[in-house]
Amino acid sequence: MTVLVLGSANADLVVSVPRRPAGGETVLGGDTVVLPGGKGANTAVAAARLGASVGFVGAVGLDQYGDLLLSSLSSSGVRTDFVRRSSRPTGIAYITVTPDGENSIVVAPGANSDLDVSDVDALTWDDVTVLVCSLEVPVTTVSHAVQIAASRGVRPVLNLSPVVEVPAGTLALLDPLIVNEHEAASLASSFEGLLDLGPRSAVVTLGALGAAVVTSSGVVTVNAPEVSVVDTTGAGDAFAGALAYGLSSGSSLADAAGFAARVAALSVTSAGAQPSYPTLEQVRKTR
Ligand code: RIB
Ligand code: NA
Repeated sequence: MTVLVLGSANADLVVSVPRRPAGGETVLGGDTVVLPGGKGANTAVAAARLGASVGFVGAVGLDQYGDLLLSSLSSSGVRTDFVRRSSRPTGIAYITVTPDGENSIVVAPGANSDLDVSDVDALTWDDVTVLVCSLEVPVTTVSHAVQIAASRGVRPVLNLSPVVEVPAGTLALLDPLIVNEHEAASLASSFEGLLDLGPRSAVVTLGALGAAVVTSSGVVTVNAPEVSVVDTTGAGDAFAGALAYGLSSGSSLADAAGFAARVAALSVTSAGAQPSYPTLEQVRKTR
């Protein structure tokens, strides 16, 4: 296992709606679709589908949604022996998708809140070269994992989604810090300004426009191919997983980001998060 992913695993309960309801309003949607999701599990599946050797660190409940998540991870080739089954319910994401492919998500973290530093201490790092973390799990756990990774010479990557306060000592180790454009705007007044938070590098995902790679030598933009949007859910996680795949196979940060922008673009062309992630062969075909 060369890529270790630490983060959330959620059952995504997805409903298509003509538009989002306002407060106090009822809107009728389509049938409920249950899909494996969660930013962490999505990232792990995205990297594995591209061919990376991946382990996932997370917590799910003893319920059927926990089973669903474990089977989606294993069938994508992700190592699941670092996933703990908690007595709390599996995390659930309530997702509405509008006809333009945009989503709104409410997450009930459940078991994800249980992931703690002892889960990190139980890890075996083998030949791990890249650690990718995301939030929806306690930031103390993420921080601990980043510190241990760095002390072992493992490259720590953090997808700061959703945005929470991260200790400066943790931010300083990141290479890169990944944020989307909204998250970037909430953290700094320019892309270059993200480096003032301390990371060695930063990547800002820009949706259809690709991504910006920020290092001390400046900002480089990488493009995404033009695609027709069906569902953007989990596109950021696909990006993070593909970036980790690229970095673990020796690509430069800019090359890995360019590749990740293509993977993320492909993921928005079909429904759901994990079910929409491409294999390496599918990515190559779209060159
Ligand atoms: O980033 C998309 C993910 O966010 C969904 O799969 C959902 O579970 C939420 O965690
Ligand atoms: Na998708």
